[in-house]
Amino acid sequence: MSLWPRNVPRCQAARQRCSHGPAAHGHNASRTKAIFLLAGLALALAGCGQQQEDAQVQTGHEIFLERCALCHNVNAQGIPGKYPPLIGSDWVNGPPERLAAIILDGVRGPLGNLNGLMPGWRSVLPDTQIAAVMNWLKEGTGKPAVTAVEVNHVRLETGGRNTFWTVGDLRNLRVR
Ligand code: HEC
Repeated sequence: MSLWPRNVPRCQAARQRCSHGPAAHGHNASRTKAIFLLAGLALALAGCGQQQEDAQVQTGHEIFLERCALCHNVNAQGIPGKYPPLIGSDWVNGPPERLAAIILDGVRGPLGNLNGLMPGWRSVLPDTQIAAVMNWLKEGTGKPAVTAVEVNHVRLETGGRNTFWTVGDLRNLRVR
């Protein structure tokens, strides 16, 4: 972990450092100075990729708390008799395209021994956030992580659906 303050994203700070634009710097800066400045900026921006990867696992739970915990409870343990636990769920541990599909368009039960309605998140959560939530849910299951590109593929393949999934449709779901 770096010493960078947690609440100041490095990429944002790198941008802000020069947010007043070139005009405010005057035009007498030497060439060497400019090169150092550019190199520093490039380094700071290069750090962002890594930082975003580190942040993904962490923000998966944050997104879950914001969007899913109301029903599935803060650690995905569910609410007995009302909302299913997601820990140990076959729908979470099964094919990733099914889980992505459930999150994208929601479900109309029964899926297991409950019979409820879950809203879809297609127009709310971008692919990166869906991937982050999926990876948080799959943490510790030994299943490979999914990428935003894979989520996007499911999004496009199921784009014409426009309604909740049912258990039968989910079982028949084939993504090329
Ligand atoms: C308004 C309540 C609600 C919210 C919010 C919600 N869900 Fe659900 N979810 C449900 C209900 C109800 C079911 C089960 C339907 C049934 O079995 O009849 C369900 C089922 C599921 C399942 C299938 C699990 C199983 O074993 O049956 C998954 C996976 C899931 N939800 C993930 C999520 C994720 C991820 C989010 C947040 C992006 C989320 N849900 C937000 C209500 C909700």
